[in-house]
Amino acid sequence: MSLLPIITYPNPVLKTVCKPVEKVTKEIQKLLEEMAETMYAAPGIGLAAPQVNVLKRVIVIDTVWKQEESGRQLYQLVNPVIVERSGSIEWEEGCLSIPEFSQIMKRSQKVTVKALDKSGKEIVIDAEELLAVCLQHEIDHLDGKLIIDKASRLKRKLYLDKIKKHQHMEHHPQAIL
Ligand code: NI
Repeated sequence: MSLLPIITYPNPVLKTVCKPVEKVTKEIQKLLEEMAETMYAAPGIGLAAPQVNVLKRVIVIDTVWKQEESGRQLYQLVNPVIVERSGSIEWEEGCLSIPEFSQIMKRSQKVTVKALDKSGKEIVIDAEELLAVCLQHEIDHLDGKLIIDKASRLKRKLYLDKIKKHQHMEHHPQAIL
C-alpha cells in the first residue's frame, strides 16, 4: 500500500464530474485501501477519488477518526447516491484539497445514501449531523463541486492570491552571493 498524492485547488481535475464504477474489481479495492490510508495519514475525515487524481465515483469517510485501528469507523463507498434528505444544518467545512480554507456550508441535516461497499454489495446508510455533512461534501467532489465555489468572489480571489504568493515564495530562486 502506498499513500496517494492529494491534488489541490485550483487544479481543474477537481472540477470534473466523475464516472460511475461499473464493477468493484481488485483495482477498485486497492484504490479504496490506498485512499483510506491517505485520508488517515493526511489526516482528514473524508476523501474523494478525484482528490487523488482518479475520476471515479469512489469515496472514503471516517468521522470518528482514531489513531488506533480498533476505534475506526471507516466507510469505503463506490457510486454513492443520496436517495433521501431532510432538515438543514450549517457546518464550517474544510477540505484537504483547499488547505487553510474553510467555508460555512448549508447542508441537509439527515441523508440516506445508497452505495456499493468494497465487496460490491449494495448498502444503505442513514446518516445525520457530521456524517451526513461529510457524505454530502464527498459526493459533491464526485460532481466537481467544491466548498470554495460557495465563497464570495472576493474571498475566492484572496485565497487564490494567497496560494500564488506561497508558490512564488517556494519557487523563488536562491540568491547567489
Ligand atoms: Ni474535500
